[in-house]
Amino acid sequence: MREKLIEAAVKAKEKAYAPYSNFRVGAALLSDGKIYSGFNIENASYSLTVCAERVAAINAIVDGSKGFEKIAIASDGADFITPCGACLQFLAEFSKDMEVILVNGKGDSEITTLKKLLPSPFSL
Ligand code: THU
Repeated sequence: MREKLIEAAVKAKEKAYAPYSNFRVGAALLSDGKIYSGFNIENASYSLTVCAERVAAINAIVDGSKGFEKIAIASDGADFITPCGACLQFLAEFSKDMEVILVNGKGDSEITTLKKLLPSPFSL
């Protein structure tokens, strides 16, 4: 399943709309056994940009799925990127902990967890 998710994240990256940063990100979220994809969508009004992770999560939620299990995040560079704080908090709303698979431009991957990246999410 990891390989499938990695493949889906790399494929989603192709659809990134990133004319301002030229920094493409793809995400693939496994939720209730199904894969939901997302990519970053930028805007001329920069702060309206939406990250790949949140697009993937919203895709799942719209489909009625909130059982987040794993997420793969792919970018083009040699370094692995981790989700931004806003995305970590967004994911944490639906999952106490989940596997986070980071994929660089060469296709190498590294595994971490939501809990490690955001040990103390805000909750009401
Ligand atoms: N971005 C993501 O989509 N996910 C991340 O984890 C970090 C950043 C996007 C936002 C923006 O379109 C571009 O990457 C550069 O910040």
